[in-house]
Amino acid sequence: MSSATIFGAVAKFFNERFPVEKLNFQSMVQQKTVPVHRMSWGYYMGGLTLFFLMIQVGTGLLLLFYYEPTVNDANLSVEYIMNHVSVGAVVRNMHAWSSSFMIFFALVHLISAFAMKAFTKPREITWIAGVLLLFITFALGFTGYLLPWNQIAVNATKVGLQALDATGAYLPGVLSRVPHIVRETFQGEATVGQVTLTRFYALHVVILPLALAVLLFVHLVLVQLHGMSQGIDREAKKRELFFPFFFVKDLSVWAAVFFVVFFLSLCVPFDCFLPFPLLDPYNALGATPPDIKPEWYFYFLYYPLELLPFWAVLLGTSTVVVVLFLTPWLFRKSSRRTLRYLALAASAYLAAMTLFGQQIYELVKR
Ligand code: HEM
Repeated sequence: MSSATIFGAVAKFFNERFPVEKLNFQSMVQQKTVPVHRMSWGYYMGGLTLFFLMIQVGTGLLLLFYYEPTVNDANLSVEYIMNHVSVGAVVRNMHAWSSSFMIFFALVHLISAFAMKAFTKPREITWIAGVLLLFITFALGFTGYLLPWNQIAVNATKVGLQALDATGAYLPGVLSRVPHIVRETFQGEATVGQVTLTRFYALHVVILPLALAVLLFVHLVLVQLHGMSQGIDREAKKRELFFPFFFVKDLSVWAAVFFVVFFLSLCVPFDCFLPFPLLDPYNALGATPPDIKPEWYFYFLYYPLELLPFWAVLLGTSTVVVVLFLTPWLFRKSSRRTLRYLALAASAYLAAMTLFGQQIYELVKR
C-alpha cells in the first residue's frame, strides 16, 4: 500500500469520526433528537455520571479551602472540616457519597452503552474516550482515599502500590521494570509518606481532573456531533427533541438525585457503613488493621486477589482491559441480544463481588 493510500485511509477514518461540518448550532442543538424506546433509560446514564462529576468538582473545591496535604495536618484538617467548619460535614459527606455514585453510574453507563451497541462506527472514539474516563474516575477514587491520612487508607494504599509493583514479575523483558518505576514515581520515597501524600494530592486535585476535563470535552463533543445512537435493533417509532424535552427530563432526574445525595449527606455519614472508623489518624508504629480493604468499588478486583493466584487475576484483568479498548471492533458484528447477555453477566459478576464478596471469600476459605 502506498503512503498516499495509507494517508487517505487515515484521513477518511478521522473525517467520519469527527464530522466537523456538523459543528453548528442547528445540528448540535436545534436538530438533536433522542429515540424513544424501552432502552431509553440508558440515555440518562452518561448525564447522571456528568452530574455527579459536577458535584465532585463543586464540593472538592470547597474542601480545598481547609484541607492540608501534610502528614501532620491532613487528618486533623479533615476532622476540623467535619466538626468546626459550618456545613463542612455536609460538603465532605457529599464528596464521599457522590464519588461512589459517580463510579456506580459510570459503570452502569458503560454497561448500558455496551448493551445498546452504542460503540459501533462512527462512535469508536466516543467509546475509547469513555473507557479512559472510567480509568481516570477509578484513579481519582484511589488517590482521594489516601488524602484523609488515616490508618486504613495509608495501609490500603501501601497494599495497592505493592500489588502494582508485583505485576512486574509477570511481564517480559524491559516491560517488567515499568510497574516498579510507576510505583516509585507515585510513592516517591521508601514507604508511603509525605512525598506520596503530596503526589497523590497533585494527582487528585490537578493532574487527573485536567486529563478528565480534556477527555470529557472530546467525549461530549463527539456525542453532540454524532447524536444519540439507535439503541435497539429496529429504528425507533418515535424520537423527541433533545432541547428542550429530553434536557428538561435530564434536569428533573438530576434534581431528584441531588435531593437524595443531599439528604444522605445531611443524615448519614458516609463512613457509618464501614466496619472500621475512618477517622483514626495514621500511626506508623500502629498495627496494620487486620481487615484492610479498599473502597467498595474495588471489591471486584480485591476479592479475586484474595481468592485466586495473582497471575490469574492479572491475566483476567489485562484481558478485560484489552477487550474494553477493542470492543468497537471485537463486537462489531455481535447482535444486541448477545451484547445484552454479556452485559447481564458482567453486571452479575460486579454485583456478586461487591455485595457478597466477603461471604464468597469465607465460603471458599472454610
Ligand atoms: C466520567 C465519565 C463519563 C461521563 C461524564 C460521560 C458522559 C456522557 C454523556 C453526558 C453522554 C450523552 C448521554 C448518554 O448517552 O448517556 C455520553 C454518551 C456516551 N458515552 Fe459516556 N461518559 C462517561 C464515561 C463513559 C464510559 C466509561 C463509556 C464506555 C466505555 C462511555 C461511552 C459512551 C458512549 C458510547 C456514548 C454515546 C451513547 C449514544 O450515542 O447512545 N462513557 N457520555
